[in-house]
Amino acid sequence: MSTPTDEILARDLIGRLESLARFSDGSPGVTRFTYTQAWCDAHSWLAREAEGLGLAATPDWAGNLYFHPPGLPTGQRALFIGSHLDSVMHGGHYDGAYGTIAGLLVAAACRGGAGLPVVGFVTCEEEDSRFHGGMMGGRSILGRVEESELDAVADRDGVTWRQALAFVREQGCAAPQGEAGTGAAPLFRPALECELHIEQGPVLEAQHLSLGIVERIAGYRRWIARIEGEARHSGTTPMGLRRDALAAAAEMILAAEAAAKEAGEPAVGTAGYLHPEPGLFNVVPGTCELWLEVRHDRPEKLERLAADVAQRCWSIAVRRNVRLSLQEGAAQNPTALSPALAKMAVMLAQEMEIPHRKMTSGAAHDTMIFAQARVPSLMVFVPSRAGISHSPDEFTSEEELVLGVRYLAMLARRLSNHPLV
Ligand code: GLV
Ligand code: MN
Ligand code: MN
Repeated sequence: MSTPTDEILARDLIGRLESLARFSDGSPGVTRFTYTQAWCDAHSWLAREAEGLGLAATPDWAGNLYFHPPGLPTGQRALFIGSHLDSVMHGGHYDGAYGTIAGLLVAAACRGGAGLPVVGFVTCEEEDSRFHGGMMGGRSILGRVEESELDAVADRDGVTWRQALAFVREQGCAAPQGEAGTGAAPLFRPALECELHIEQGPVLEAQHLSLGIVERIAGYRRWIARIEGEARHSGTTPMGLRRDALAAAAEMILAAEAAAKEAGEPAVGTAGYLHPEPGLFNVVPGTCELWLEVRHDRPEKLERLAADVAQRCWSIAVRRNVRLSLQEGAAQNPTALSPALAKMAVMLAQEMEIPHRKMTSGAAHDTMIFAQARVPSLMVFVPSRAGISHSPDEFTSEEELVLGVRYLAMLARRLSNHPLV
């Protein structure tokens, strides 16, 4: 049954989720790549919303945004609660956005409370959709970015991280040059971190549970494969004489799929992008770029799977007499979250009589970066309808979304008084 608290939460949460989803570069779904105009507009809107709730909103050098009590001293240790602002191409309304708005509301609700201050955080570029730099936002919060990356990391059009930041600074969505950079002291220091997120998988819904308490997050290995064969006339080149780069890529895609299936769940293998040249009916493709990814939640199994896929690709290249370069992309190791915080989270769910379970995340999250930097970290999931995410069809009911935020607010009060802090 709905309580007045739930009604207020629903109004504050659902309305803002709908508003945030409008900051998008076209439909279907939400497309909000880091540092684009849509992203900057969303960023500025969030800052205004925070101010309306009595919080200050301050960006760091990379454009991560913090919602905090006004006057909170720089360098202050805090409980960090939040998620990311960027989306995949044609993503849904909730991935990142839900945890972002939840962080805002919970930081506002906890303002002036006893214990550790609660700071809402919003990261940039969690999805790696624009720059493929590997969780650049989360890493910049934790001081894990090299100055050289600002020039080395570029988007598909060759715009570097540094150049993109210049645009964002003009819009007031990142700290001004001179005051900020990779060597700058962090605005606030995460003593504990917690991210509320949609599950993005089918487990909670199938088991009729309302919350998932995440114990570990799967890691991934990625490659940009460049295959060089020989472009020749499609009508006159006999099948036996071809060095078809696209056909080789097709075999590699199926090899990654087969390797993941043979490794067994939760191993997954995906080819997300394919670009043959010259791309005509009547030319055997001479070159092809292919993006491959594998994931697993166990370090040794991830390494074995990655080695298996690479080996299969090399064998295909040799057999088909094409040249192959396998450039390693951003990688994340499987990451365990804090057992102590998970235990607290389970206890609270029991007290609140919320059906829940512990689980593993197949999706990657900024929380991995906090945990890898030894910040005690926790993730909580709410169900995703049919397990669909990274799609405009992403959906979680209002009731489930509201319950998650109500739970997070309770959890934040407990965490901010946790003995670990
Ligand atoms: C982000 O959603 C990822 O899992 O890559
Ligand atoms: Mn996400
Ligand atoms: Mn995502």
